[in-house]
Amino acid sequence: MEELLSRMTLEEKVGQLNLVSGNHAVTGPFAPQSVRDAILKGQAGGLFNVYGAEYTRSLQAMALTETRLGVPLLLGFDVLHGYRTILPIPLGQAASWDMEAIQAGERVSATEASAAGVNWIFAPMVDVTRDPRWGRVAEGSGESAWLGAQIAAARVHGLEGQSLSAPDSVASCVKHFAGNGATEAGRDYSALDLSERALREQQLPPFKAAVDADARCVMAAFNAVDGVPGVANERLLRDILRKEWGFRGIVVSDFGAIGELPVHGVAEDGFDASRIAFQAGTDMDMESRSYVGSLPLLVREGLVDGGLLDDSVRRILQLKEDLGLFDQPFGRSDEKREAEVIGSAQHKAVALALAEKSLVLLKNDREVLPFAVTAKSVAVIGPLGDAGADTLGPWAAHGDPNAAITLKEGIAQVLGPSARVTALAAGSVERSTAADIASAVRLAATADVVVLALGEHATQSGEAASRASLDLPGDQLSLARAVLALGKPTAVVLFNGRPLTIEDLDRDAPAILEAWFPGSEGGLAVARTLFGLNEPTGRLPISFPRSVGQIPIYHDHLPTGRPAAETYKPYTSAYIDLPSTPLYPFGYGLSYARFEMGEPRLDRLRMVGSQSVQVTVDVTNVGPRPGTAQAQLYIRHKVARLSRPVRELRGMGRVTLKPGEAGVISFTLKESDLAYWQPGGRFAAPDVGGPVEVHVGPDSGRTRMTVLEYRPSSAMVQQPARVDTARPTP
Ligand code: NOJ
Repeated sequence: MEELLSRMTLEEKVGQLNLVSGNHAVTGPFAPQSVRDAILKGQAGGLFNVYGAEYTRSLQAMALTETRLGVPLLLGFDVLHGYRTILPIPLGQAASWDMEAIQAGERVSATEASAAGVNWIFAPMVDVTRDPRWGRVAEGSGESAWLGAQIAAARVHGLEGQSLSAPDSVASCVKHFAGNGATEAGRDYSALDLSERALREQQLPPFKAAVDADARCVMAAFNAVDGVPGVANERLLRDILRKEWGFRGIVVSDFGAIGELPVHGVAEDGFDASRIAFQAGTDMDMESRSYVGSLPLLVREGLVDGGLLDDSVRRILQLKEDLGLFDQPFGRSDEKREAEVIGSAQHKAVALALAEKSLVLLKNDREVLPFAVTAKSVAVIGPLGDAGADTLGPWAAHGDPNAAITLKEGIAQVLGPSARVTALAAGSVERSTAADIASAVRLAATADVVVLALGEHATQSGEAASRASLDLPGDQLSLARAVLALGKPTAVVLFNGRPLTIEDLDRDAPAILEAWFPGSEGGLAVARTLFGLNEPTGRLPISFPRSVGQIPIYHDHLPTGRPAAETYKPYTSAYIDLPSTPLYPFGYGLSYARFEMGEPRLDRLRMVGSQSVQVTVDVTNVGPRPGTAQAQLYIRHKVARLSRPVRELRGMGRVTLKPGEAGVISFTLKESDLAYWQPGGRFAAPDVGGPVEVHVGPDSGRTRMTVLEYRPSSAMVQQPARVDTARPTP
């Protein structure tokens, strides 16, 4: 590599730092002129938005044979929840709380995308999100930094596989570093304000976990932290990421973000922007073309250190080498493998399993669900009951909306030809007329069971899809009310990329199943769950507010001196017009089975230093159906030098029980679980020790508690706990 570097001209070095967008809609092995020009001029270290084995091979061949040095290309793509086989959106995946299933899902993404020549995926998105107005909550893992860290590690392992050079592995790119999830008022690209504590405890842990899992790339965010945009943020990129965490991979800018520095008001022009972003530690420029236009001159003029340029180029070449691109540049662009693996039955099975695990049962009065599989006629009413693209969800890569199993199709598959399954959109997401609603009521009146398929379009979530209202769009609530008034056995299935404000629906509908955007097998997963072939086990990774006015609302908020009471009391931290609790709290989700959970027990009442403590809780299945009980473990530092959150998630466990059966769910609590960001600037359990509440329950709103006494030892934890998830077996 050093030999290659020594042969590079200044322009060729800077060329490696340039990342060029290809075209989304690839119709054949033909590159647009702009892409060809960039490659042939040696001005493309990588391309993105390119896929397809034949096409990517032609691009790679051009770089290898028609440029002076023949350096292979990084080929990137946003594969956020599947390449062709589409998995549930990441927020839905997070609702599974199942690291193995999530990791298996990422293996599917990596296997399919790599067969199509992609060697670099711009995922996982690990921003911790607490404002459901932000469309990008769909891409993340919700509001818990702890859960987000587990998921970040699982996703990196799934994408990068056993060995990065394997033809079915891709480099992951963890994004958006940092603070993007704390975006103000839920607006995309907006400014935000984060204290050091909020940055360290709420936003950074999933990034740290991804870096520990050996993520090879970090994407620097659009947004500023403390006034400094992500791509210009030397403290984040050099001090924290590289020096503190030892990150050795590459840093790429978000799309055009370097070119936006003058608009932020932190650079005078494109030259200044390049200098600032490069010195700050952004190795690669995605699509602003600032580096190619200005870095050579800046280096010649001595305004940018040539040694730093060599370091960046080295890192990019190293990634290419680790990906095996120098030895086997065409290893991934493989038509045979593309034909075999993309959309394979095995991949569909993984997507179906993950979709089933992502579903969250929000309400089930009088056990309306599951419906009997003997139902002879089913009316699927609402704009999302037979909508392929909305079943896939936002940013569905190369997914095929026509191949997605819609809810109507899924129900027809489950019930077989003897049942009549009729879908009626009854208008659209945006609007239903009185006549649409009347036809829906007529259809529902003839059915044994009714499914209302409501929610958002896929395009109402994701990037640049912030919403100021989180109500069901259009006239869907009126439609639902008219159909529910018939009193038929009815379930609402929600398709959406974020929490919605559905207090009215919750009051009126007997059963509500949250389906998110469930992916290519999604309709089948939902149908199997509605008709009892699958038990809903998902739990909310994000709180559902009652009203937009409650936002931000999340489980691990700080206490106040005047906490809200259950019913309104003046001069407390409460609203006069709404309860201060969410409609559905973090961690919430029902089962078809019924469980009773006891109080948490500790195997020792005192944790001294690094001693671990076993926490157990008894669970009994008191209903007539078998099922999987789940418990979550939260802590609260009762007395510390500073106020600590009222709940902090530290574990999740499950046990499957037959009717009448009793079982135990256990957790191990370690000293590192008690660590938080200390005033001196490190993660550690409190050096003064103190009482810690240990809460266990089915969700963050229904926990029972016992108290553990913590006594410190001298060996303090320096960083948030490492997340160790297994690499996939070969
Ligand atoms: C902008 C988005 O913020 C980022 O997440 C994505 O990877 C890039 N565009 C490339 O599509």
